[in-house]
Amino acid sequence: MSIMMGCPKMRAAALSVFYLIPVLLAGPADYVGAEACRPCHAANFTSQSNTSHARALAPSSPSQHGDWAFGAGLQAITYVTRIDRESYREDGLTWYRSLNGHAITLGQHDEKGVIFRTFDPAARILKCFACHSTGPLSLGKEDEVIPHELGVRCEVCHGPAAAHVSDPAHNPLRTPAQLTAAAMNRFCAQCHRTDSETGEELTDLRDFRNARDQTLRLAASTCFRRSNGRLNCLTCHSPHRELDQNASSYDVRCQTCHANKVHRQPVAGQACVSCHMPRIPNGPYLSFANHRIAVYSLGNPILPARAQAAR
Ligand code: HEC
Ligand code: HEC
Ligand code: HEC
Ligand code: HEC
Ligand code: HEC
Ligand code: HEC
Ligand code: HEC
Repeated sequence: MSIMMGCPKMRAAALSVFYLIPVLLAGPADYVGAEACRPCHAANFTSQSNTSHARALAPSSPSQHGDWAFGAGLQAITYVTRIDRESYREDGLTWYRSLNGHAITLGQHDEKGVIFRTFDPAARILKCFACHSTGPLSLGKEDEVIPHELGVRCEVCHGPAAAHVSDPAHNPLRTPAQLTAAAMNRFCAQCHRTDSETGEELTDLRDFRNARDQTLRLAASTCFRRSNGRLNCLTCHSPHRELDQNASSYDVRCQTCHANKVHRQPVAGQACVSCHMPRIPNGPYLSFANHRIAVYSLGNPILPARAQAAR
């Protein structure tokens, strides 16, 4: 296998799987980068540049470990180091916001880190770069992986934009808002999903590793299934703005469909999502809002109370 993966054609094929682009035939030249949008869309450029999306990947700064810093720091930053021509290491220590310090990287057992071969059939390191960057990956000197543009930027959602930039009137761009709710789930699930080590999607809603699988969990909620496509990611998230961490700000989104919901017990003063989208821990230092909107009992943020009763 390693000999096959060493052949340039196979490597090109391995990389192309992770282009993650809507137009499969687009190449690097079709991606112009966020900076090119600034002159005409200054407001979207400025606000999007401050999102975790935009900051999801950066070269490590001198005060950080490794060569690459993955994660914007909303919850964590994991360092990745190039070892030699054939391999990268996911470092054993990750910086966690909840600790304001370093601890063992989620999924690892000690500080040594884990080595990934670049052209391993599971392509884990290529996938790290693909989900945390924009446009096609390429290979540099000695098979160094080179992301086209750092972070999740404009062309992930709007598609390659070279033609638009040179003649906007004749080359309109798409936006994910044009997708149906189910298609938007699939679109965001290019990255917002959980995979096993072999690359298969994990789909068990009781699995804590799926805490972060917003697309899977939202699709499983009654709100999504019974609202005829009116509920999607954009109902609650602005694509060009940083995540809103004020829980009460989501109340108005719920109330577009649940105006005047009367509870048996008083709930006034508390955010809807604090009870109906409780945070699920994933490892000791991370937690994710449960996107399977439902009624939960205290102490079980993963399985709706009704599903528990039915078991
Ligand atoms: C030279 C100016 C210019 C540049 C550069 C430019 N745009 Fe535009 N863009 C426009 C104009 C003008 C429109 C409105 C076109 C229309 O309505 O016919 C537009 C519309 C859009 C739309 C709206 C599509 C819709 O139907 O709502 C999106 C999305 C967009 N641009 C994204 C981008 C992105 C991403 C970039 C950078 C890669 C970019 N634009 C660069 C001028 C520009
Ligand atoms: C190319 C991969 C990719 C795609 C496609 C993608 N995301 Fe993300 N998203 C990420 C990554 C990586 C992060 C983590 C940023 C961090 O904290 O390091 C993230 C973080 C987020 C966050 C939390 C932080 C923030 O910046 O607000 C939200 C909300 C989000 N994404 C929504 C969406 C939605 C909605 C879609 C689909 C319209 C989408 N994403 C598509 C990769 C992607
Ligand atoms: C399938 C796409 C995908 C792959 C592959 C991927 N990431 Fe991410 N990563 C994301 C998304 C999406 C988020 C945002 C998580 C969230 O908030 O739901 C994220 C978040 C992170 C974070 C912030 C902390 C956290 O867990 O939320 C770190 C650190 C990170 N990724 C590192 C890595 C590293 C290192 C690799 C490779 C070993 C990797 N990622 C592979 C999509 C991906
Ligand atoms: C996570 C996906 C995502 C990313 C990344 C993204 N956009 Fe958008 N964009 C959207 C969606 C969805 C819409 C539809 C309107 C809305 O929901 O705000 C949109 C609408 C637009 C529009 C139409 C006018 C408007 O504001 O409604 C422009 C222009 C635009 N985006 C430019 C950009 C530029 C420039 C960048 C990068 C700096 C960017 N977008 C990054 C998803 C994204
Ligand atoms: C686009 C409309 C829509 C939005 C937005 C929405 N819901 Fe729902 N929700 C529904 C529908 C439809 C049902 C099913 C009601 C029924 O069949 O009686 C539902 C059901 C529920 C249920 C019962 C779940 C179950 O499994 O029985 C709860 C709890 C709930 N919603 C809370 C919320 C909260 C909290 C928010 C905001 C975070 C929200 N919803 C946002 C449409 C929506
Ligand atoms: C009904 C409202 C609602 C919808 C719809 C929704 N989200 Fe969220 N999302 C939230 C809330 C609330 C949070 C937690 C915000 C905080 O940190 O306080 C959140 C947080 C996130 C985060 C940060 C990590 C986490 O899980 O806590 C990501 C990434 C994200 N959402 C992605 C998505 C994607 C992708 C979709 C579409 C599949 C989506 N969301 C649909 C309400 C929503
Ligand atoms: C303190 C926790 C708490 C808060 C805050 C809360 N809820 Fe609830 N909610 C519950 C519980 C428990 C139930 C089930 C018992 C009941 O109906 O009173 C429920 C039931 C519901 C249902 C009906 C579920 C069904 O099976 O029919 C909806 C819809 C709902 N809530 C929406 C909301 C909205 C919208 C908000 C914010 C305005 C909100 N809730 C705030 C705890 C809460």
